[in-house]
Amino acid sequence: MTHRLVAVFGGDGIGPEVVAQARRVLDALDLGLTFEEGLVGGAAYGRTGHPLPPETLALARRADAVLFGAVGAPEYDALERALRPEQAILGLRKELGLFANIRPARLFAGLEDASALRPEIARTIDLVIVRELTGDVYFGDKGRRRTKKGLREGYDLMRYDEVEVARIARVGFETAASRSGRLLSVDKANVLDTSQLWRDVVNEVALDYPAIKLQHMYVDNAAMQLVRAPGQFDTIVTGNLFGDILSDQAAMCVGSIGMLPSAALGETGVGLYEPIHGSAPDIAGQGKANPCAAILSAAMMLRHSLRLPEPAERIERAVGAAIAGGARTPDLGGECTTGAMGDAVLAAL
Ligand code: IPM
Ligand code: MG
Repeated sequence: MTHRLVAVFGGDGIGPEVVAQARRVLDALDLGLTFEEGLVGGAAYGRTGHPLPPETLALARRADAVLFGAVGAPEYDALERALRPEQAILGLRKELGLFANIRPARLFAGLEDASALRPEIARTIDLVIVRELTGDVYFGDKGRRRTKKGLREGYDLMRYDEVEVARIARVGFETAASRSGRLLSVDKANVLDTSQLWRDVVNEVALDYPAIKLQHMYVDNAAMQLVRAPGQFDTIVTGNLFGDILSDQAAMCVGSIGMLPSAALGETGVGLYEPIHGSAPDIAGQGKANPCAAILSAAMMLRHSLRLPEPAERIERAVGAAIAGGARTPDLGGECTTGAMGDAVLAAL
């Protein structure tokens, strides 16, 4: 047993509630992990005046992995951008070099009726979105200014360089290799130069992966296909903005955004693990949040950063068993509280 350090950042809204359930599951497995909590997001701003205080960043750098809840609180929406809660997660991704976001979406048996799609279509979904996480319009030059005519103007530069594209493309190819061997790159190369470079570089990297069947698709078509015939997708690699949008869409296709975990990875083994849902301030503190995405994120953490694949699988099987046994939070059409859903997963463990 090693004493590896997990930094736990619950954050805002339902973040702390769902992370608490993930902690219960990890504690029950008795893996010899050490946990240290830190402040992020609006919660951190309220206490320290900054959404990502230096102590939090230092803790993340020291840790073997970061377990993250969610950030975002309406009371801080009017702050200047650098102080808004979202800067905590964007800052962590950037500072830790976490350029690759792995977002698996598959339908747990029993959730067919919770999906926005017809059950026979929903059942076919088993895909992974590999989303670039530290570039694109998210991190390009941005601001507000006046036009020559004096009109207010906002701008966000979309940009990628070839190194950024090549490294995420490799993660896409490797992910595809560990699955069906098919990779779909999603872009908007018919309109955007950034996307044309993306496509060119992905094609170049493909030469190193002759066994992988690579295809390209425009993002508008991909959004349509994702609800029309999602079974055609296996591994999708795409940029930061397109990946953000497509992953929320994929979430609704598998029943609820409360079911989707994610891993943010960089060149080192250290990663950040978070449910893809946000802070959901409307249901915060009411015990209504679905902890499954956070619990499944903890499983991804065990697999990717802590090299503990067996307990990771145990957690995933336990979530599947809890769902199969009928445990449902309100987002899944049931009445379980957050804690009761955690209980059901623990019981299945
Ligand atoms: C996500 C979220 C974040 C993003 C927000 C909270 C900054 O939507 O992780 O998908 O846009 O990346
Ligand atoms: Mg998002």
